[in-house]
Amino acid sequence: MLKSLRVALAVVLAVGGVLLALFVLSSPKPAAPSEGLVFTSAAQCAGCHGEIAREVAASYHGMAFTDPEALALSHNFQDEQCISCHAPAPVFRTGVDKRVLERKEGRETGVDCLSCHLLPNGGVAGLRGLSAPCRPEVEPRLGAAVFCSGCHNQHWTVDEYMASGYAETHTCNDCHMPRSDRPLVDGGPVRTGVASHLFPGGHDPGKLREALSLAVSVESGTLKVSVTNRGAGHKVPTDSRHKSVNVYVSLTDEDGNVLIDRRELAEYRLYYRTDNIESSQLLPRETREIRLDLPADRRGTARVELVYCLKPPQKETRDWTLVQEEVVPF
Ligand code: HEC
Ligand code: HEC
Ligand code: HEC
Ligand code: HEC
Ligand code: HEC
Repeated sequence: MLKSLRVALAVVLAVGGVLLALFVLSSPKPAAPSEGLVFTSAAQCAGCHGEIAREVAASYHGMAFTDPEALALSHNFQDEQCISCHAPAPVFRTGVDKRVLERKEGRETGVDCLSCHLLPNGGVAGLRGLSAPCRPEVEPRLGAAVFCSGCHNQHWTVDEYMASGYAETHTCNDCHMPRSDRPLVDGGPVRTGVASHLFPGGHDPGKLREALSLAVSVESGTLKVSVTNRGAGHKVPTDSRHKSVNVYVSLTDEDGNVLIDRRELAEYRLYYRTDNIESSQLLPRETREIRLDLPADRRGTARVELVYCLKPPQKETRDWTLVQEEVVPF
């Protein structure tokens, strides 16, 4: 009696299992993303926008919370006032012209897709007016300088740009998000002028060469050096107090004697408040001249180096970026 009950139960369970499996297999596929993707992490965007996600990860935005320099200076972000811009909540939620707020979770991704694109209604800010599963909406402020200002105007970069004359001809992104023709989503159609998310700046030697140029000549016993901010839409350096542009000169006579070994001729920088030194940053399109009297009784060569230091100790360790070097006879 007990045995036949057990057999019956087993049959019922087995049939039930098969029916359940059939039901699962035949049930409709999960709802299409267009019916309501809820974004809680930037990793979701990477699923469709893989190429852009790789650019962001390789950029200083993507590294803002893991960058060794930022970790060191903020004591691993125990200094809580440093978190807001380095792991920000969505800018369009806190308000585009407002100081950004720190986010509570997933800080490792730094300034991420959600920080810059997520809208209060759950869609994403775009400029093209496309329809897509991520529910893009045209938000012209995404392409304007005001969008960068919550994080990049602490030391007046956006104000410098607005006053520079460049604001009439270039957006920040024209210089910092170079465009190429490629798909917006992996496997999608090629679109024209798609913005790069690498955001090259002071860490990029090519960008520094775009910004600065050096000219050196000898005129009646004087070495004439000029440095021009030819290509940055703001002062150089900008945005941080620990960056500097420096000019060094070395003189060697015909017999190989070193007369001057890397003397600092100039420093262009926004100093720390406590240094109490007036800013010497190069204004947009400005040229500065430096003159040095050469020894009247000698012939030789002058070497002038234009360098960029990300932080003050790099002057001591010479671990700087060489932007341009010129050698002239005298
Ligand atoms: C399920 C795939 C999918 C996911 C996930 C996704 N997107 Fe999209 N996204 C698309 C497609 C498709 C397009 C349109 C591409 C085209 O038509 O060329 C698009 C377009 C865009 C555009 C341009 C819209 C415009 O009109 O300018 C932006 C910006 C964008 N996505 C941002 C994001 C962000 C940020 C996330 C994550 C929060 C995200 N997307 C997640 C598929 C996705
Ligand atoms: C108002 C926004 C904001 C706050 C608050 C902020 N930062 Fe930043 N930080 C930035 C921006 C924007 C940059 C990139 C500009 C630049 O490097 O010139 C940056 C860059 C840096 C860099 C340079 C990274 C590198 O690799 O060169 C360091 C280091 C840094 N921040 C440390 C800090 C520390 C420490 C604090 C807290 C005392 C802090 N930040 C607070 C916006 C902010
Ligand atoms: C620092 C802010 C920032 C971050 C971080 C960021 N974006 Fe953007 N994104 C922008 C801006 C600004 C534009 C508009 C560029 C322009 O002027 O055309 C843009 C444009 C786009 C576009 C449209 C490109 C085009 O040419 O129409 C897509 C798609 C996009 N972003 C996806 C993403 C995804 C996915 C992530 C994360 C992996 C991401 N973005 C991270 C600021 C950001
Ligand atoms: C939500 C805050 C935030 C927004 C919005 C933002 N940035 Fe940034 N940006 C940062 C931080 C923080 C860093 C530095 C991260 C680090 O190095 O630790 C940075 C780094 C950069 C750098 C690299 C600087 C270098 O030293 O190489 C450039 C260039 C840049 N941003 C341009 C822009 C532009 C242009 C916009 C507007 C389209 C923008 N950013 C919007 C926070 C932001
Ligand atoms: C005409 C081109 C141009 C425009 C417009 C422009 N930039 Fe730059 N930017 C550059 C160049 C070139 C550099 C490299 C020189 C340097 O690092 O100072 C640079 C450097 C930077 C850096 C790195 C800071 C530093 O000094 O290392 C940041 C941050 C930045 N730009 C943000 C912005 C923002 C935000 C805007 C708009 C408000 C903007 N830029 C507009 C060309 C431009």
